[in-house]
Amino acid sequence: MYYPYVPTYYEDSTREQKGVGSIRGITEKLSYLNEDVGVDAVWPSPFYKSPMLDGGYDVDDHMDVNPDFGTIADVEELVQSCHNRDMRIIFDYVSNHTTITHPWFQASRKREPGYEDFYHWNAGKRDKDGNPTLPNNWPSRFSEPNKKARERGEFQDLGLDEPTPAVPMWQWDDARGEYYMRTFIKEQADLNWNNPRVEKAMLDIMRFWRKKGVDGYRIDAVNHMAKDPSLADEQRNPSYNEQESDNPMEQWTEDHYCNYWPLLEKYITKMCEVLEHDGGRDPFILLESYATAERLHKMTNIKPHLAATFNFVVMASKWDAGTRKKLIEEYLDNLPKGAIPNHVNGNMDNSRTATVLGDAAARSAGMINIMLPGMTIIHNGEELGLHNGHVPADRIKDPNGFRDDYRTPMIWDDSLPNAGFSRAAEGDLYLPINKNDLHLSAERQKRNSKSTLRMYRAAIELSRVESALADGKYVPLETTNPNVYAFARANGDNHAVVMTNFSNSTQSVAIRNGQTHSYNSRISSVDVKDNNMNNISLHRGFELKPNESIVLTPKR
Ligand code: GLC
Repeated sequence: MYYPYVPTYYEDSTREQKGVGSIRGITEKLSYLNEDVGVDAVWPSPFYKSPMLDGGYDVDDHMDVNPDFGTIADVEELVQSCHNRDMRIIFDYVSNHTTITHPWFQASRKREPGYEDFYHWNAGKRDKDGNPTLPNNWPSRFSEPNKKARERGEFQDLGLDEPTPAVPMWQWDDARGEYYMRTFIKEQADLNWNNPRVEKAMLDIMRFWRKKGVDGYRIDAVNHMAKDPSLADEQRNPSYNEQESDNPMEQWTEDHYCNYWPLLEKYITKMCEVLEHDGGRDPFILLESYATAERLHKMTNIKPHLAATFNFVVMASKWDAGTRKKLIEEYLDNLPKGAIPNHVNGNMDNSRTATVLGDAAARSAGMINIMLPGMTIIHNGEELGLHNGHVPADRIKDPNGFRDDYRTPMIWDDSLPNAGFSRAAEGDLYLPINKNDLHLSAERQKRNSKSTLRMYRAAIELSRVESALADGKYVPLETTNPNVYAFARANGDNHAVVMTNFSNSTQSVAIRNGQTHSYNSRISSVDVKDNNMNNISLHRGFELKPNESIVLTPKR
């Protein structure tokens, strides 16, 4: 599954250039995705009508298309073009909120009949002078700006050890004379899914795109849909560390303002049922939630065959063999039966993998994900090993201020100034090009047999043609070297072994589990296909290059 971030993916060459990616741009790049990367499914970022205050996750109309990106006809053409290539496509469904410019919010703030309770309104408590105060202590998920404000010298009255206050989840609205709930920015108001009219209107949106052929959805911020109706205060999170945390929201538990179980289960079930019963092609749903492993598996357990939570467990973890092995095995062991595992190294909300891990380790991280059972989810540019850009303050689009660096335009070729992304004037681009990465362009990498792109292509291909990798079960392996993580995939008489060196130096390693086969190396994250390592004995041992990941199959 591949995520093109629409605003910065590709502006189709035939339209008048605006400096913004387009739907037809993705359609034009399907041959790249399908043939050069090798993926068979795409999930474009939200392309709906939007003021673009949160990258399109702020929706004015879920059933219309942002004219900067294209038209409904363009979306239909994209779906059809995917299906013509036997690729699947899921849409980003922003379920938790709409913008405050959305007609529903406009009607709700005026208490128009039928819309009074479309959002979570509350008159608040009263202070001693009778002025409204916040209904409870719930925090906004986007509380990072307060931390930055404190660094700039605001909140001076706070003692050194006192946590930075979170941004309140409640926003006062003068027009209605009440607070509304907003988990994200103040322009994104949370929908009240407890209102049957909201539920119907939102599920109709799923039906609308499904009729146009979409294969499923990625449900944005799903755990935030469910709030405790008692509005009980959150408790202090005992493991919060003011010095280490960038987000003051983390000082609170997450039991009431999101994750509220009976409701979360109900909403996920309802969304799944829409797709289960509509007679369309086999649907697929990915649920986005940053929560404990236990909570994530509980959500996946609702409809395991249909809707799985994203697996973000390795994304923030150390590049260390023991840590990764533990996290991956815990995830696979606890995954509800029938669910398709998925693996994520990075996404549009988090620092780019090559920046976090370094280039060689990022390639290996990609290789591991492709070789594990289930689905790999690729953030656009990961297949090129792109790095974070540096978006200057006057070009920032992200309301949190830090995510634009992960979202700079794709590097299609090494032409200046726009790297093949668009032909608009450089200053008009949605975000600036990261010129430090020009040498990593897709065009260049297509021609270099050892490039990251060619590694992804070859690894994906191998994972499909080798039956043990296509559907073999995961088998943990113990190595003689703590810097090396190894596992096998086994299917009847076939098996494959995946070994990864997590250190920056060459490492000798063996697996002493009695395997006496002689193995051939099929792919390496370093040399891709030219590594000529044949007749390897796992029992006697061999050497892995720094941060190298390799796949071995028994010599036939
Ligand atoms: C999700 C998206 C993020 C967005 C937020 C609010 O976490 O991944 O980009 O800002 O939801 O919709």
